[in-house]
Amino acid sequence: MGASRTLGVVGAGQLGRMLHQAAVSHVIGPETTIRFLAEHPDEPAVQVAPSWEIGAAMSADDLTRFAKGCDVVTFEHEVVDLQAIRALERAGAVVRPSAAALAIVADKVAMRRAVQGAGLPVPPWCQVADADQLDDAIGRWPSVVLKLSRGGYDGRGVFMPDSADEAARIGRTLLQAGAVLLVEPRIAFEAEAAIIVARRPGGQCVVYDPVRTEQVDGQCREVRVPSGLAPAVAARCREVAIAAAAAVDVVGLLAVELFVLDGGNVVVNELAVRPHNTGHHTIDACVTSQFENHLRAVLDLPLGDPSLRCDAAVMVNVIGNAAGDDPVDHLEAALALDPAARIHLYGKRARPDRKLGHVTVCADEVDDAAARAWAVVAALHGDGRP
Ligand SMILES: Nc1ncnc2c1ncn2[C@@H]1O[C@H](COP(=O)(O)OP(=O)(O)OP(=O)(O)O)[C@@H](O)[C@H]1O
Ligand SMILES: [Mg+2]
Repeated sequence: MGASRTLGVVGAGQLGRMLHQAAVSHVIGPETTIRFLAEHPDEPAVQVAPSWEIGAAMSADDLTRFAKGCDVVTFEHEVVDLQAIRALERAGAVVRPSAAALAIVADKVAMRRAVQGAGLPVPPWCQVADADQLDDAIGRWPSVVLKLSRGGYDGRGVFMPDSADEAARIGRTLLQAGAVLLVEPRIAFEAEAAIIVARRPGGQCVVYDPVRTEQVDGQCREVRVPSGLAPAVAARCREVAIAAAAAVDVVGLLAVELFVLDGGNVVVNELAVRPHNTGHHTIDACVTSQFENHLRAVLDLPLGDPSLRCDAAVMVNVIGNAAGDDPVDHLEAALALDPAARIHLYGKRARPDRKLGHVTVCADEVDDAAARAWAVVAALHGDGRP
């Protein structure tokens, strides 16, 4: 047993809550306490973790105060005051992933540049900071996607206009509000895939199986494994992910979102350096979950086996419906429907379009797992039979 130490997690949403869940087994040692920096006292991680303080991840003062009480600092999201994180590193704080890694993923333009700079495939793209660049970008491709370079998530900073006129209108409005944009062609991909790497400070890493993902309005809905990708495509996803993890020099998790194109080429859409929605199935379907491997990686402990312990698994997100129904109200019906389904609810107030939980079903066959997971999600929305 070593001396007591504190792992600080900046952010206290559902990802923090699931990080805490992974630590309860004492796999990171009983002497290690996890402490959260939360914006509000009712956040998902705060509901379950004994150690937390209130503060804003965008406040240099709050981050600095928080880090003083921690031996290692990590993150459940990337919307943080990077200057403060850099200053903490200079003062000797152990920050994992580093400020440099966070800076790359916090900005879609920087991310594309870094991935491309590492010799990895990306979609065609350009940076747009003024009206001339906007007109030029819109003229380049038959239809375009506009993305806020900073601050978007769950598709909230992604715009898919139906015409060049609409693209110009939306783009001008965003530029006037001070945004910098990433503009790229609308891509008719064959599939979307994602893959997660856990990497220790020395560079040792483990890689999860690639998954196939479905997004609705830019927001993740369903994750399937096995991905159904051809073996050569899956192998390419692994290669790209390991190379991206080395390029970003990540410590902790790197999630890589990919578009699979006609003919099996893959391009990197984006990166995240934290637990990722496309890895939630790993809690129930893998030997070691992404959350546990994030903890192990940032604490420089031996990594756990990422392999599947079932033939197939499907994760479906529980997303707040338009009526604002709370899935907790339908929990008994959902539990009764499929006793083998793994239901995770995050303790968040129900609101339309909000991620409130997820359901994972492990099965012998992926279509069966999907049908059952969707049925349980329908039950949580009050649409299922009791
Ligand atoms: N160029 C494109 N062509 C077609 N679809 C796209 C394109 N870019 C993004 N999308 C769709 O929008 C989704 C969200 O885009 P992206 O991942 O870039 O944004 P985000 O809001 O940062 O997402 P996240 O929730 O992963 O942070 C993608 O998963 C994909 O389904
Ligand atoms: Mg994305």
